[in-house]
Order: sequence, then structure tokens, then C-alpha cells
Amino acid sequence: MRTIKIFDTTLRDGEQSAGVNLNFSEKLEIAKQLERLNVDIIEAGFPAASKGDFASVEQIAKTIRSASVTGLARAVKSDIDAAWESLKEGAEPRLHTFLATSPIHREYKLKKSKEEVIAAAVEAVEYASKMFPIIQWSAEDASRTELPFLAEIIEKVIRAGANIINIPDTVGYGTPAEYGRIFSYLREHVPSIDKVHLSAHCHDDLGMAIANSLAAVENGATQVEGTINGIGERAGNAALEEFAVALHIRKDFYGASTAMNLQEISRTSSLVSKLTGMTVPANKAVVGKNAFAHESGIHQDGVLKNKSTYEIISPELVGFHSNAMVLGKHSGKHAFKNRLQELGLTVPDEEIPALFTIFKDLADRKKEMTDDDLAAIVLEEKLSK
Ligand code: KIV
Ligand code: ZN
Repeated sequence: MRTIKIFDTTLRDGEQSAGVNLNFSEKLEIAKQLERLNVDIIEAGFPAASKGDFASVEQIAKTIRSASVTGLARAVKSDIDAAWESLKEGAEPRLHTFLATSPIHREYKLKKSKEEVIAAAVEAVEYASKMFPIIQWSAEDASRTELPFLAEIIEKVIRAGANIINIPDTVGYGTPAEYGRIFSYLREHVPSIDKVHLSAHCHDDLGMAIANSLAAVENGATQVEGTINGIGERAGNAALEEFAVALHIRKDFYGASTAMNLQEISRTSSLVSKLTGMTVPANKAVVGKNAFAHESGIHQDGVLKNKSTYEIISPELVGFHSNAMVLGKHSGKHAFKNRLQELGLTVPDEEIPALFTIFKDLADRKKEMTDDDLAAIVLEEKLSK
């Protein structure tokens, strides 16, 4: 069983979500919770971006002891210096430096030739390796880069001192088969590839961030990057809770797992949602309000008989207390009777059919039936006798 390292960038790429701006103490609170979640690497920010970012990265690096804290830097000496100053007191300082490699970025953004891009990347990594014991290098927009050029620049930054090579699908353009192929291509065409870890970093523009991350794992990635609740630029990043749970539930297929403390997922998701103001959609996998809710009678009946009929993830696994039987117009008699019992509303068996009819009439008019509604039905029926 392989262990995939989890690189959390909630505080950097996640904070790049439109409308999100976390303050110093909020970032520290999230970093401490990420430590409880037991992620391997916390990207705490972009130290050269602002004084506020520098201060929070520095404080997080000093505080967090059981995860490696990193910060982002462009291939610019002043960025790398700022990163070192803020990270040097960390338990395991590491730099995350990047440069775009795709033709679109080379031509329109960087206005650099291939040779100039290679020279700038190598210079940044060589400079950083005088300070940092661990260096991650990212090829921004890797998934839209010509593969031979990607292989060439990666070989050169490895020789310059990079220990982790990250392959971002920066604009969420890749498909699982295609993104997976990049990893297998690099493993075949980069002579020094065995000296480094390969990392996946996927955005969700086409809704494929998790599928792409899993495809990368199938093709040799040993680190996966993402954010809690999948927050991030545009449509966001791969949601780490979804990735970790997918590996856990389907370890039979992937033969890999993470060291994440899955029971802390619910708490981490709520904290990130509260502090960023980004609501988690009810139907979101793993952490949505409805992720463990069963509404239809057929499903409720199945779950009451045996949970495995309709539940592949137990809510307790990710820190929720229990599954929810949401009573509504699709619910069956079995779930109705079960809830009355849970509420301590004792009703003789022969009265259940009549009460259930009243319940169904009301449920037809309401979205969701509350416990108060059930109590009222039972009470009114008793009073009418
Ligand atoms: O998506 C991206 O390319 C990034 C890089 C800075 C790693 O976030
Ligand atoms: Zn990104």
C-alpha cells in the first residue's frame, strides 16, 4: 500500500477564491486545524505578496510542528528571500517555486523563449537550494505544455536541486486519461525522475479535479495538492477531503492511502466554510449537509435494514455523528415509525397507518418534515379521539 502525501493549499490557492480574505488569526486557526487533520504539507501563503501574508506564513511556520510549512515564490530572488525569511524557523522549511511552461504563457505572459524559461527556472532553484533543504518546483500550466519541453525543463530543475516536481493543471483543462499520461510520460522520459516526488495539482474548471488527481496517482504521483471544500481560483481546486476519502474507500482499486485523520474532516470543513464565508453546497460529496441524508422510502427502508445498501461512506468515518433520515414525501412507513420511536412518541402499531396517511398529506405540501411536525401529528390524533 503506497502512502500519498497531502499538500494542502487552502491558505494560498484557496484564499485566491474571489471574495475570500482571511486575517492573521483566522489563518492560524485553519493551520492548527490542518495539523489536527494531519496533512503532510501546509502551503501557508505567498510571503512576497504582502506584509500580511509574510506575517501569517512566519507565524504558521513557527507554530506548526507536525507538518511541513511552505510558501509560494515566483522565480525571482526577492520572492525566494522573502519565503526563506518567513519559513526558516519552521519544523521542515520548504520552498514552493514556480514558472509557467506552456506556449500560451511563454508567449503572452512571460514573453520568454523556451531557453529563457529553462534558464530562469534553473537559476531560481539553484539560488533557493543555498537556503532551503526541500524545494518543490511547479511547471505552471503544465497540462498545456509540449511534453518533450516539459521533460527537458524538469530534468534540468532536478539537476539544479528540486526535490518535488509538481504538474499543475492550472486551468482545469486536462482529462483523466490525458493528465495521467503526462505522469507516465515523465517517468519514461526524464532520466532523473526517480530522485524526486511527483505531485498533482488540479483545478476544477471542467469538474474533473478529483478524477484527474486519482489518474495521477494511478500513474505514479506520490503527492496530491488541493484545498478543503475545494475552494480556490475560479471553480476551485481538488477537494482534499474528497480525494482522501476516495482513496480510503477504494483502496482495493488504488492500492494507496493517505495519513489524513479522516475523523477531523467534518470539523475542518465547517471551520473553513465559516471563516471564508464560502457555503458548502448541500449535495457536495463527503461534507455536504445531504451527503449522508436518505429521503426516499426505498432508500430509508434499505438503510434501516442494512446501511451498506445505500451508504458507501459511514458518516462517523469523516466525523459526522450519524446519517440522517430526512422525512419527506418520498419516505416510507418504516422510516416514519422509526423516527417516532427515536423521538419517544409511543404509538400502538395499529395506529401507524392512519398517522402515516396524515404525514403523507402534510409532506406533500412541505419540503421537509421536522420532528415538531411529527409530534404535532401524534398529539392531534390523540386529542381527536
Ligand atoms: O494552479 C497553479 O498552477 C498553481 C501554481 C502556482 C502551482 O497554483
Ligand atoms: Zn493552483
